Parts: sequence; C-alpha cells; structure tokens
Amino acid sequence: MQLWGAFLVAGMCVFTSCKKDEATPTPAKSLYERLGGNAAISAVIDQFITNVAGDARINAFFADAAADPARLTKLRNNLINQVGQATGGTEKYTGLDMKTSHKGMGIEESHFNALVEDLALALDKFKVPTAEKTELLTALGTMKADIVEGPTTLYSRLGGNAAISAVVDDFIGKVAADARINAFFAAAAANPARLNKLKLNLVNQIGQASGGPEKYTGLDMKTAHKGMKITDAQFNALVEDLQASLVKFKVESRTKIQLLTALGGMRADIVGQ
Ligand code: HEM
Repeated sequence: MQLWGAFLVAGMCVFTSCKKDEATPTPAKSLYERLGGNAAISAVIDQFITNVAGDARINAFFADAAADPARLTKLRNNLINQVGQATGGTEKYTGLDMKTSHKGMGIEESHFNALVEDLALALDKFKVPTAEKTELLTALGTMKADIVEGPTTLYSRLGGNAAISAVVDDFIGKVAADARINAFFAAAAANPARLNKLKLNLVNQIGQASGGPEKYTGLDMKTAHKGMKITDAQFNALVEDLQASLVKFKVESRTKIQLLTALGGMRADIVGQ
C-alpha cells in the first residue's frame, strides 16, 4: 500500500503543482523522485521480473538466472541500481556495460520489444503516469543498439566446432560410464578407430544441425539404430548424459533447450527400431 501511495503522490505531483510557494520555484524534480525513489523502483522491477518470467517470448533467456536465487537477486539489484542511477538517484550501478552483458545472446529486436512491453506493463500496474513512463522507456531505447545483435545461429552460441567437440568428448565419457546404456556402445568403445568415427559423426551432426559448416556423412537415424530395440528410457538416459555435459560446459539454458529439443525430434527414428 505504501508503494501505491508513493506512486500516487508522484503522479499527483506531475499533474498538479507540488510547489508550496509560487514565488520561490523549487528545482525540477528528477525522474527518480517523480518515480517514487528506491522503494517504488524496486516494486516496479519485482513486477517486471514476474512479467518476464511469465513471458514465453523471452523467458528462456533468463532460465539460468531464474534457477539460481543468488544470481536472480544480483540481476534484480543490478536493474534497480541501473534505473536508480540513470534517473538521478544516489544508487550506483556496478554491473557490466550493456554491450558486454548481452554479447552473444542473439537478442533480436522482437525480444527487446517484448522486454520493454513487460516493463511498460509493470509501470502501468503501479499507475506510473504517462510522462514518467515515456521518459523511462525512452532511456531504455538508447541502450537498444548495444543489446540487439540480430539472430545468431545455435552453432555460434554453442561456441563452434571446438566447443561442440569438447562437449561430445565429455558426453562419450559419460555414456561409457552409464550402466543404463553403455552396453550399446561396447563394440565402439573397444575399437579406437570406430570410436573416433562415432565422435566425428556426432560433432558433424550437431554442427550441421545447429547451422555450422560441418557436413554429416553418417547414416540417417532410422538406419543407424535399426534392430537395436532402444527403449524410451534408454533414449532418455542418453539425453540426460548429454544434458549433464552441456551443464558442465556451462552452455546457457536457451541454447541447451534448443539443442535438446532438436534431439527430441529424432526420438521417433531412434526408439523401438
Ligand atoms: C534496455 C533493455 C535492457 C536493460 C536495461 C538490461 C539490463 C541488464 C542488466 C543490468 C544486466 C546485468 C548485467 C550484469 O550482470 O552485470 C542484464 C543481464 C541480462 N540481460 Fe538484459 N537488459 C535489457 C534487455 C535485455 C533483453 C531484451 C534480453 C533478452 C530478451 C536481456 C537478457 C539478459 C540476460 C539473459 C542477462 C543475464 C542474466 C543472468 O543470467 O544473470 N536483456 N541486463
């Protein structure tokens, strides 16, 4: 209630005169003061974070932060301090600059606009007057060029051939140690040339499927798994092993989800053949 009060007072100051004495004009209030200071900005940011978390257009970008309370708190504080400092408050923003902190994420204009919409909705919820809302959203607009990069390929977000090779190496190690499925790979594991070929096929398959220059020259998935009678549980075990390798190499959630979804699309050709 107090916060609503703060906004209402801020709003009233915009539409009526807050000057006590017309003869001695007080200095113009900063946007920070008109927004209602730290408490009101914090409430807006909390609502903004809730909006983003529920926004399927962009919430995958924030999945890693959402899953880690300390990281989310840091992001929240960074946002509050950034808005506070930019609007004339005493807060100090100590995070990364916008170009560095969003580099390589593949943020497109539509993502940027969705995020701004989520902030606008938060401002509306707290009845921030149009003038203040416009001023704040315009300030965000100036950061757009540093944040929007345009589409990136899954391949580049994975880190290209070297990073894919490292993940595949680790993945093969995990599969070899996984009693649920390692029997399928016993023949390959016992033959270095065959294991190498499998590794190369996997790297090329992921590279090609994610938009890289690699060319996959192995069998199609249906033919490659014919007669193996792989179950859903065994397929899931393999996906789990890959996921563990992606986590180990700190592949961000959006990229991870995209890769695992692509893998899911092959399930029908691999299971029950
Ligand atoms: C003007 C608009 C934006 C502002 C002011 C902004 C601000 C920030 C700030 C202050 C950080 C923290 C930097 C640090 O850790 O030092 C951050 C990180 C981040 N931003 Fe933005 N951002 C904007 C747009 C976007 C958009 C459009 C997206 C994606 C849809 C996005 C995704 C992210 C992600 C994923 C992080 C890292 C969060 C984490 O995992 O810790 N941002 N942003």
